[in-house]
Order: sequence, then structure tokens, then C-alpha cells
Amino acid sequence: MSAPVSLSTAGAAPVGHAETTPAAAHDDRHLFALSDSAALLVAETASTPCFAYRLDVARERFLALRSALPERVHLAYAVKSNPGPPLLAELAGLGAWFDCASAGEVAAVGLARDEVTDAVSGRMVFAGPAKSEADLRAALAAGARIQVDGIEDVQRLADWYHGPGSLDVNVRVHPLGGISETASIIGGSGPSAFGVDEEDLADFVAACAEYPSVRLAGLQVFSASNELDAQSLLANHRTALAIGERLQRLLGRPLDLIDLGGGLGIPYAVGSPELDIVALGAGLAELLEANAWFTGNVVLEPGRWLSGPTGVYVTRVVRVKESRSTTFAVLEGGINHLLRPLMTGQSFPVRAVSARRDLATIDWTDDSGAADDPGERATYTLAGPLCTSLDRVGTAELAPLQPGDLLVFGQAGAYGFTQAMTNFLSHPVPEQLWLGGSAASVDGLVLGPR
Ligand SMILES: Cc1ncc(COP(=O)(O)O)c(C=O)c1O
Repeated sequence: MSAPVSLSTAGAAPVGHAETTPAAAHDDRHLFALSDSAALLVAETASTPCFAYRLDVARERFLALRSALPERVHLAYAVKSNPGPPLLAELAGLGAWFDCASAGEVAAVGLARDEVTDAVSGRMVFAGPAKSEADLRAALAAGARIQVDGIEDVQRLADWYHGPGSLDVNVRVHPLGGISETASIIGGSGPSAFGVDEEDLADFVAACAEYPSVRLAGLQVFSASNELDAQSLLANHRTALAIGERLQRLLGRPLDLIDLGGGLGIPYAVGSPELDIVALGAGLAELLEANAWFTGNVVLEPGRWLSGPTGVYVTRVVRVKESRSTTFAVLEGGINHLLRPLMTGQSFPVRAVSARRDLATIDWTDDSGAADDPGERATYTLAGPLCTSLDRVGTAELAPLQPGDLLVFGQAGAYGFTQAMTNFLSHPVPEQLWLGGSAASVDGLVLGPR
């Protein structure tokens, strides 16, 4: 049983549309890290609601992206998208850089690196529009390249940094234009709390001269998230490089690092294209070649692209209720675990797995012949357990649901648990299961196809 989901929470624009044909129903499998069978086994093994992640998927994606990019582009995993320790350790073991935004994230990366005996300092960038003293000190101690957001960061670093030599930092610049962002997540070229506005760059560079122990050595530009089109990403990167060229002229010395941010998108609906990472890599190589003035290193900070497809969120249907021509499926977990639909108007894809399926007779590794009723389907408003009508995680067309059936939300490895507001109403915090790696916590699980 499956269907893409669209959000019908008041005020939020629906995305995608429910599809009802069996053929279309099968097209969504790439959106789910676990087969229905594996999800059912997870639900029987752990308690629901829970998140389950595949470390083998993270590994595969990191290596694929790494090999698509020019050598001087480093991959700094954006920890905020999913700071799960097994995932950080997996990526640290593969030589990933990390993008951190708090002292807590720096500490999590430090622990993960210890676990894989990767004692390398650096290979970390640090950003954030309101860095605390603890944040800056943690970033300094970790040898991170700090992305300063304004003169306040420079002043405080000048006070706290005591050599040797000067401290090289990047300046985050917020472009005046030339940025496309399909849905507003980072904010495109609108007013922003992030970075130095492009039009103020010359004044900022001049003001930094007062703090010679802090040296502007690089640039960060990141203004658009979840872009599925390689050419739009490349257009944003072109804008960043143009800003870099101007910054290099203003400084009168070469930049050594340009950080182009994250923003590599993943599909959340059937029919949405996958980002073409080969085109992205080739385009980036061309762009760097065309910008011969810049000979330094480049950083990309993908979060969602690396972690999103690793995970699913699994929750059971508690009640099915008709109310004034609307059919609600009321779930064990809602926006307390998946807040993204409410925040962005974009929902996670969802599949239903019947609780009546016989666990003893299903094939764990292949759902292609899974029992499904292609005929009868109904539209469900998916509500959570919270005492607010804001608690809606989508509207989906699914085969008839009964209490106990499972709903499996795909692409939930990024901005799922990490953005959850688990304290609200004090329901149990969902368990997180890590599969397909050395830290697998469900014994004997045979993972299904993706
Ligand atoms: C500074 C920074 N870098 C990277 C990311 C990761 O973005 P994405 O998950 O879209 O790749 C974010 C997301 O908010 C961010 O703020």
C-alpha cells in the first residue's frame, strides 16, 4: 500500500498529489530506506513510534557524491540534519568534514571521531547567526574554520584567540540577488539574520582591519536548501564565486577556501526528480575552471542529501474517525516527531503497512509481490496525538486503514527526529534504530531493497 502525501494543514500549500494507480504506488519505493517488510519487523522488534536508519545508505551516498565532485571540493556533513552518533562515526570513518553550528554539535563530532580513532583537528566548518561564547570557544578548540556572521564575531575572536599566528576565518555573505530557492527554507535573497549583507561587504572588510589577529581568508555563501535541480544549485554557486572574486579584490590577497553551503535536495513525492549529482560535479568543475582567479579549496555542506534517504519514521494508527466528510487517521506520533510538514508545508512521503500482514510469511528482502488492494483507497487526514489541530502530518490516499496498521514515512533521516519537539505533551521519545552498520541495534534484520 502506498501513496505520496500532501499537506492540507490550513495555510500550507499542498505539495504533490495523491496517486491511486498500483503502478504509481510502486514508483515510490526509492523514497523509503526500508521495505514494508523490514519496517514491519522494526515495528515488531522495537516499540513504535520509532525512527530507523540505514548506515549502509549513508555510506553509499557519501561515496557516490565524493566521487562525483572535483578533488578539491570537500564534503562537510551538516550535522544539524541528523546528529545521530552512529551516523557521525560512519561519516568520520569515511573522511568526511563536518559542518557544525553549536558547541553541542562540535562535541558530538569529537566523540564520533574518537570512536573511529580519527584524531584529525580541523576538517570542520562552524556557522551560526548567534554564536555564543561556548560555541566560539568549542569551534576554536576543534580547529574549525569559523564562518563569521558579522563584526561581533570578529571582535570576540580577536579577544579570545591567542595564536600562534593569526586566525583564518571565512565571512558568510548574504547575496543581494542571483539566488533561487524553490521553497523558503534558508531564505534566498530576502532579508536575513545570516551573514554580512553583500552590499555591506566593503565596509565589513574595512572594519576587520582593526582586528589583525583575525584574518579574512575565505567565504561562505548559502541561501537555498532542498534544490533538486543541479543547474539552479550551480547558478547559486556562480553567484557565490562572483562574490568571492570581489572579496578577494577587496582583501588584496588570495582566498584559500570557499564554502558553497548545503542545499542538495531530495525528492519527497512520487515523480519528483532526483538531483543529478554527476551534472552537479561536472558543472562545479567547469565553474572552478572558469574562475581561475581562485585556486583554493571548496567546501560543500550537504545535510539532507546525505542523511534524508537513510531513514524512515514508523508509527501506528490509533483511531480512524469520520468527521464532517473528512476521514482522520489519528496516529501515535505527529508533529511532536515530524515537524517539517507544519514548518515548511512540505510533507514526507508515506506508505501504509497492514497490521494484519503475517510476519511469518512475508519476504523480508522483497516487497514487490506484497499483498495490496489496488482497488479500494480512501483519503486520510493524518493527525497526531497532540491536543492541537495544528498536529497534521499530511493527507494521503491509502488502502483502508484500521487501528494498529503502520504508517511508514520516508526520507525521514534528515530534519525528522532532530527537529522534533518531543517535550510537547510528554509522550515517549521515539527510539532511534541504526541498521546496516557496526552499530546496528536490531539483530538479524535482513534489509529490504530500496
Ligand atoms: C550553514 C548550513 N550549512 C548546511 C546546511 C544543510 O543544508 P541542507 O540540509 O539543505 O543540505 C544548513 C541547513 O540549514 C545550514 O544552515
